Amino acid sequence: MLLLQQIVTSSFTLFRIACRAYRPTSAIVLVGLCWVSISAHAQEINPLAGNARAQYAGGVLFRAQCATCHGADATGIESIDAPDLTAMWRERAYSDRQVFDIIRDGIAGTIMPPHDFTETEVWMLVSFLRSVGESGVENLPVADSGLGATLFNNHCAECHRVTNAGGVLGPNLSDVLRRNSLADITASVRQPSALITSGYKAVRVNTNAGENIQGVLKNEDAFSFQIVDTNQQLRAFRKHDAVLTEQRESLMPAFAESELSEQELLAILNYIQSATGATP
Ligand code: HEC
Ligand code: HEC
Repeated sequence: MLLLQQIVTSSFTLFRIACRAYRPTSAIVLVGLCWVSISAHAQEINPLAGNARAQYAGGVLFRAQCATCHGADATGIESIDAPDLTAMWRERAYSDRQVFDIIRDGIAGTIMPPHDFTETEVWMLVSFLRSVGESGVENLPVADSGLGATLFNNHCAECHRVTNAGGVLGPNLSDVLRRNSLADITASVRQPSALITSGYKAVRVNTNAGENIQGVLKNEDAFSFQIVDTNQQLRAFRKHDAVLTEQRESLMPAFAESELSEQELLAILNYIQSATGATP
């Protein structure tokens, strides 16, 4: 089924490219035909939902095309009334298809412009916005939260907090059930490098004194930068004294199902829910 969808989507993209190629000629009828079949093909359901690579690619597009108005983290820019796109899922209960249409058509009478992306590119943007959206986990399956507490302490607490206890290399997970869907949380745990949480980019630092340090970048300006290193310490450097290199891999280890089963992950999430009194 997925494969079929991919074939449909990619042949459709080719078709659209063919349609575009004809546009400069005066074959108006042909252009019209192409347009009608594009509209007829538009899908209701995001064929890339929960796909970590699509989310990543959508994030790249977002930063290039949307961040000037909506902010790099999609939380909006008040001075120009560009809304917080992480809150819209919960506040307005949009479907993926409605957000698709807004991105493609823009909002008439406002500065929100229409966009000439391919269908696949728009779905990638929708996937990205879902991944940063505050839609949260609905109906978390019940699992053993006592077991979850033990698993969390053994495997996660080194880098993550729930409420206040735990490490600071990774984000506080207290509100992760309110911010991310179950598919996104699972993707974060199984393939952490596919979508790095903003504010947690992995870096390597080589100091003139010969030190070689890994950590996540917290702040950077023209002369200095700050990281949290893998010993959970906040450290500041002058650019004069150290070279900063960005890494593609997350500092979070990937947990395969053989190391942490689906049931065990659910146990951890049940623990987070009970520890934070979250009602997602
Ligand atoms: C020139 C500034 C600008 C750019 C660029 C822009 N937007 Fe917008 N966008 C806005 C404004 C302003 C609104 C609110 C319009 C209104 O008043 O309803 C908006 C609204 C939206 C909404 C509806 C939000 C809601 O809560 O109803 C979505 C979704 C959206 N934009 C996505 C995008 C995406 C994705 C991109 C990049 C492909 C993008 N926008 C590029 C300014 C912009
Ligand atoms: C060695 C440190 C480390 C360990 C151990 C670790 N993580 Fe992470 N985790 C991180 C870092 C750093 C990030 C942010 C970068 C990223 O998104 O990959 C992160 C991100 C996440 C995210 C995404 C959070 C968000 O706000 O989007 C989730 C979910 C997550 N971790 C869950 C877990 C769970 C569950 C465990 C234990 C089974 C765990 N992590 C173990 C370092 C760690």
